[in-house]
Amino acid sequence: LAEQMRSLAGLEREAAYRILAEQIDRVLEGIDDVHAEMATVAAMVHHGLGTLWTGFYRVVEPGRLLRVGPYQGTLGCLEIAFSHGVCGTAAATRQAVLVPDVNAFPGHIACDARSRAEIVLPVVDSRGELIAVLDIDSETPAAFDERDRIGLERILARFARTRRPSLPG
Ligand code: SME
Repeated sequence: LAEQMRSLAGLEREAAYRILAEQIDRVLEGIDDVHAEMATVAAMVHHGLGTLWTGFYRVVEPGRLLRVGPYQGTLGCLEIAFSHGVCGTAAATRQAVLVPDVNAFPGHIACDARSRAEIVLPVVDSRGELIAVLDIDSETPAAFDERDRIGLERILARFARTRRPSLPG
């Protein structure tokens, strides 16, 4: 597994995401379990990219409430309402949200004061339901751009292939 998690630092961004996506697919081959997949994606993205905080907020009340899921980093906020903060905005709109400067984003929720930039992407299951958002924070201002959005969307596409239902009921 150590080989799977070799650092991607220094690689050109598109190449880094391509290698990271291949590593994740290899590690998770044959696994059809949302929790195992979220935990593995959080660990591999976090250590691969060297980000500050990397993890999932799960939809626990559709249209209303997110609750923290598998993550890597310092203690994260436990619950976030839809349309609160960057995560809630991504959940409510089902759109990726790129925040180059967290201090300029109205309603940004500061879980770790070192965070300067953030990207949040919706996670959709095989039924087209929003099951979570992936939140990644960086200490580097303007750390994320469209290349990150595209690379991460490719990694998250696996959740739309997971067959196991992930919402209660
Ligand atoms: N900054 C996020 C909250 C989550 S933490 O940073 C881990 C937000 O504004 O939604």
